[in-house]
Amino acid sequence: GQIHKLVPFQGFNLIMGIHSPKEVDRIKNWEIQDSDVFVITYPKSGTIWLQQILSLIEARGDVTATQDKLTSERIPWIELTGSEKEFVSDPSPRLRVSHLQYKFMPLGLREGKGKVIYVARNPKDVLVSYYHFHNYAAMLETPKDFNDFYEKFMKGQVYGNCWFEHVKTWYSHRKEMNFLYITYEELIKDLRSAVEKICMFLGRNLNEEDLAGVVKHSMFTNMQCNPQANYTLISSSLLNHQRGSFMRKGTVGDWKNYFTVAQNERFDRVYQEKMRDVPLPFVWD
Ligand code: PPS
Repeated sequence: GQIHKLVPFQGFNLIMGIHSPKEVDRIKNWEIQDSDVFVITYPKSGTIWLQQILSLIEARGDVTATQDKLTSERIPWIELTGSEKEFVSDPSPRLRVSHLQYKFMPLGLREGKGKVIYVARNPKDVLVSYYHFHNYAAMLETPKDFNDFYEKFMKGQVYGNCWFEHVKTWYSHRKEMNFLYITYEELIKDLRSAVEKICMFLGRNLNEEDLAGVVKHSMFTNMQCNPQANYTLISSSLLNHQRGSFMRKGTVGDWKNYFTVAQNERFDRVYQEKMRDVPLPFVWD
């Protein structure tokens, strides 16, 4: 596969070939409606999970109504080239996802228009998931080994840049927006409660049966065998299906199988230092 180089734009790495600096720069000026919903994640934090959950909520738990398109087509990335046209012409509610940093976001969000759901995941598990993704995504440079990728992640030399910066900046601006902060681990622990929380935030009233449908079809095992929610249909020029799968493990704590004691100690030190001034509880172990 062809490697799409990372090119920094205003200090944030874009992937050449699928992102355009000029277009990303225009997102700020997108006109926001109150019904717009943006799911923001650092890569590998549960994006596809939220794409599936939100489309199921809109479909009131009826999975057949979500099976016409891939998760990423149902709820597209705003940073991908060509996304603006669709955003302007789509009927509401316009549901979108993004890995972008806060500074690129539509200014309307800061005026309290629209809604933002920020999903965070234990950065150690993010690192492991991202390592596998780099071995599997044809568009990203294959790491030499786990340590090589660990270093790249710690330096922010990946798409998404520095994990700490991403979560910190979004979280510290939460009061300007209609903002829901939720973690991957919360979804793992109690998917139903997490879905209810999301429905409440979005102002969607689902009955018991609808809710059960949303939960069932967003469970890992069901998404894993759902071609519209597992990326097996994505072209092998983008994802090398021989080398891995997008719905890889879907667990909490896989980092323990990869981090050395030294890597873990260093990670904890960096976390303490970078997150010192953020009132975000460390919910991970
Ligand atoms: S991306 O490339 O940024 O869009 O990736 P993203 O979708 O954010 O993250 C992929 C990881 O999320 C896991 N995943 C899930 N876990 C539990 N339950 C469900 N339903 C689910 N759906 C996706 C997926 O397996 C990736 O994590 P790892 O640890 O690699 O398995």
